[in-house]
Amino acid sequence: KTKIIKLDKNNFNEDELKEASDILRKGGLVAFPTETVYGLGADGLNSEASGKIYAAKGRPSDNPLILHIAHMGSLKELTADCPEAGMKLANAFWPGPLTMIFNKSDRVPYNTTGGLETVAIRIPSHPIAYELIRKSGVYIAAPSANISGRPSPTMAEHVIEDMDGRIEMIVDGGMVDIGLESTIVDVTGEVPTILRPGYITASMLEAVVGPVNFDKAVLARKGDTGIIPKAPGMKYKHYAPKGDLTILEGTTEAVIQAINKYAAEKTSKGFKVGIISTDETLSCYPKGMVKSIGTRKDEDTIARGLFQILREFDDEGAEYIYTESFESKQLGQAIMNRLLKAAGYHIIKVHDNGLATEP
Ligand code: TXA
Ligand code: MG
Repeated sequence: KTKIIKLDKNNFNEDELKEASDILRKGGLVAFPTETVYGLGADGLNSEASGKIYAAKGRPSDNPLILHIAHMGSLKELTADCPEAGMKLANAFWPGPLTMIFNKSDRVPYNTTGGLETVAIRIPSHPIAYELIRKSGVYIAAPSANISGRPSPTMAEHVIEDMDGRIEMIVDGGMVDIGLESTIVDVTGEVPTILRPGYITASMLEAVVGPVNFDKAVLARKGDTGIIPKAPGMKYKHYAPKGDLTILEGTTEAVIQAINKYAAEKTSKGFKVGIISTDETLSCYPKGMVKSIGTRKDEDTIARGLFQILREFDDEGAEYIYTESFESKQLGQAIMNRLLKAAGYHIIKVHDNGLATEP
C-alpha cells in the first residue's frame, strides 16, 4: 500500500521527511515534488533500488535516470571529470531546472545510466526535493513519476493516478512551479549540447558559456526519419494523451476557424472532442469542449498547464484533441517540443485562405 503524506513546501519540518528518507535508504521508492515535475525516487547508487523504478514505471531499461544531488561537491564522487563548461553552468543555474550529462565514475551503476558511460545529474531547487536528498544522504535517481508514455505529473493527484499501489510513498507538495521537465545539456563534448529544451533556454545558457548546440532531435518537426536523439528517453512516444492530438499553426484567425471546422466534423460523427485554447481565445470555441492552457501574456502559465490539460482530456475521454500552437522561441521551444511529441508530430499549417496543408 502506498502511503501519502502532505507537506507545505514553504513550511515543513525535516522530521516530516524521516519516513521517506528511511524508505530511500532501505532501497524503496518515494515520489516527491521538484520545481519541474514530480519525480519517482530511489537510491541511485543502489543498482537493485534503481532497477525497481523501471518496473514501477514500465520504463524501457535502456532509458537512463537523472541523479538528484544536494551539493556540487558530490560531482567529484559521481563523475570521471568535471569540464569547465559544466562548472560554469552549475554555478549559474544550480539549484534549478538544469540537468547536465557528465562522464560517469565507477560509483554509478549501469542500472542508473541505462548502460551508458555517462550520467545525468542535477541539483533541484524545490525545498522538499532538496531536503529529502540532504536528510536521506542518498543520491536520488528519479525520472518523472508517471507511467512510461503518459504526461509527466505536475500535481500529487497525477502521481497517485499512475503510481498508487506500486511504490512505498508519495510526498504531496502541491502543484509544481514550472510544469515541464528540466533542460538537459550534454557537457562531455567540445560544445555544450542541448538534448532536451526546458525552462533554462539556449540564450540563458549562452550568456554563461557562449555558443551551444542543439541535438538534431530537439529541433525536429517530424518524428523519426533517421534522427536518433542523444537522450534515449526522447525517442519514445511520450507525453501522449489517449485521444488523437493535432496542432494547428497559422494566424490566430485562421487557426480558430480551422479548429472549429475540424471539431464540428468530428462532433457530428459522434466523437468526443477537446480543444486547447489560451485565455485570449477561450470564447472563440464551443463551451464544454474547450479548456484554456494559460495566457499568451505569460508563457510560464502555458508551460505549467500543458501536462495537466492533457490528463484532463484523458479523464474526460476526449477522442480527438485540437490545439493552437506556440512560437518556438525561449520557453516556447520547450512547450512546442513537448506538444509535438504528444501529437506524434501531427501539425497542420493553416493558410489565411482557409486551406490547410498536412506534413
Ligand atoms: O525535470 C526533470 O528532469 C525531472 C525531475 C523529476 O527531475 N526528471 C525527468 O526524468 O524528467 P525523466 O527520466 O523523465 O527524463 C530524463 C531524460 C530521459 O530522456 C533520458 O533519456 C535522459 O534524461 N538521460 C538520462 N541520462 C542520460 C545520459 N546519460 N545521456 C543522455 N540522456 C540521458
Ligand atoms: Mg519522463
